[in-house]
Amino acid sequence: MYPFIWALLAFCATIAQANVEKTIFLAPAGTTVPSGEPAIDDLGLERLSPESPVVRTRLNATFPSNDAPEGTDSWFFLENLIPGQRYEVRVCWLATQPTAFTLTTHALANTIEDPSLLSSLSIFSTARLALLSARMEVNTILRRATGNSKKSVLDLEPTTDSVLFLRVRAVADYFSADEALMRDVPPVAVDLILDPFLWNVFPRSLVPTAAWIAVVAVVALVVARWVARELGRVVDDAKKERDLQEGKKAR
Ligand SMILES: *[C@@H]1O[C@H](CO)[C@@H](O)[C@H](O)[C@H]1NC(C)=O
Repeated sequence: MYPFIWALLAFCATIAQANVEKTIFLAPAGTTVPSGEPAIDDLGLERLSPESPVVRTRLNATFPSNDAPEGTDSWFFLENLIPGQRYEVRVCWLATQPTAFTLTTHALANTIEDPSLLSSLSIFSTARLALLSARMEVNTILRRATGNSKKSVLDLEPTTDSVLFLRVRAVADYFSADEALMRDVPPVAVDLILDPFLWNVFPRSLVPTAAWIAVVAVVALVVARWVARELGRVVDDAKKERDLQEGKKAR
């Protein structure tokens, strides 16, 4: 029995090779800063919206230091949110790149007023713009430059003013005998996913899983009823048989 359980555990361990961290938030009411504001478009941040909810990217991470106990910050822009709607943002990464992530969302006004947030955002934005000018990337603010001729989802103007900044802090979480790995942390490949909650209680992307669980539950119920009925029949038969035998003996 035990070898079997160990084999099962080992099997599960190989399946669960990705980690997830998330933050849940309510979309704010429309902000006074129009989301089409060039100042925001010029930050070079990658964007997440209900229309394009997944970003696959690499995030810089560092070991914790006194200056940055939570590692390196990366910033994203959440747009076209429905005010008052509950969302979650998940970051998924491979277990082969051990990292601890902290996700927080910040309103535009708070970010601009808070000196530490603003300096973190501008450091990231500067590095990102330098990278962008070197290597043109899709799914960024460059949609303005593409003009109106190609109207893809990404080219759509924001439809609501409900927007937020997302800060992702990444701190390396490993120890290696490899000196190079201990000196420079390689960027972590991640998927960032924006997921609205259905009726503000249930993440939409979990609906297929829930439906599947419901189907399994119904099937299990039907099978259980059938087994109970069959067992009951067998027991009844056995009882009848015994009564018959006892009746014979009594005679
Ligand atoms: C990530 O790290 C590399 C190497 O240190 C640096 O060149 C790049 O600008 C960083 N990117 C961001 C967005 O900070």
